[in-house]
Amino acid sequence: MTDSKEEGGQSEIRTDEKKQHFDDIYVEKDPVAFKERIVDALDYISDDFNRQMFDRLILPWCEKEAAKGRTLNFVDLCCCFGNTTLATAHGMNVGEIRENWKDAESCRRAAQPRRLPLRTTGIDISGNALAYGKRAGIFDEVIEADLNNPTAEARASVDRAMGGADLVISTASLVYLELPAIKAVIEPFARAKGEGYLLVNFLNPFALEKADATKRLLLEHFDFVGSMASRHRRMSALEQENYPGEEWALLELWVLRRGNG
Ligand SMILES: C[S@@+](CC[C@H](N)C(=O)[O-])C[C@H]1O[C@@H](n2cnc3c(N)ncnc32)[C@H](O)[C@@H]1O
Repeated sequence: MTDSKEEGGQSEIRTDEKKQHFDDIYVEKDPVAFKERIVDALDYISDDFNRQMFDRLILPWCEKEAAKGRTLNFVDLCCCFGNTTLATAHGMNVGEIRENWKDAESCRRAAQPRRLPLRTTGIDISGNALAYGKRAGIFDEVIEADLNNPTAEARASVDRAMGGADLVISTASLVYLELPAIKAVIEPFARAKGEGYLLVNFLNPFALEKADATKRLLLEHFDFVGSMASRHRRMSALEQENYPGEEWALLELWVLRRGNG
């Protein structure tokens, strides 16, 4: 593992050392650099696949609950600027997110409304990304937390949000968290009553042993619903050096269900 300190020196972002670091992009004031340097430069297309998974395995249940008049609690864990919330909750494809985030002016508001009655919460280590998501109407609530080392206050807020969630998405992000941190964050969601869904991603070829341990942990707490494999994004020059012969980072997308009554 490699650590890098953000400016100000308070919070730490950890990632596999063979994986490219994008920390400087996640702490920008708006998502324009994210769009230019990740979505455009690396063909970051995985949100189209996350949307497909959501539509196939989660959306039908959400629509049924919405028809009963329910507003569902939706948590985007390690949400960054909220791109996967735009894909799943707003139903936007990668082309539409690109257009929305093309410059400082156009990214000010989410270009499309939510397609479901949801209360959305974004959780991330980047205060700037969260502040943007709230300003733009992507998140109703935000919680700034270093999930690997949360303050007591952050821990309590995260536990409350996860314990009250009906839907949790965590895309391209569990790789940043230590196993005990993943356990701590998912347990309140797993313990809560009622049907609930979790959409998670596992990256290939990075940190495969940790991904295996994460899968085992999740399967202790949730029922497996379905999965698919997809391209995620192109590998950066550094990653292509670390993994010779590989051009694309790949994703496994899993949907899990909490159904403990
Ligand atoms: C690769 S981005 C994923 C963003 C989004 N979910 C997606 O699929 O595009 C990883 C996110 O994890 C956040 N992150 C990294 N370490 C974290 C930590 N210790 N606690 C909370 N968030 C963290 C970063 O700030 C970043 O927004």
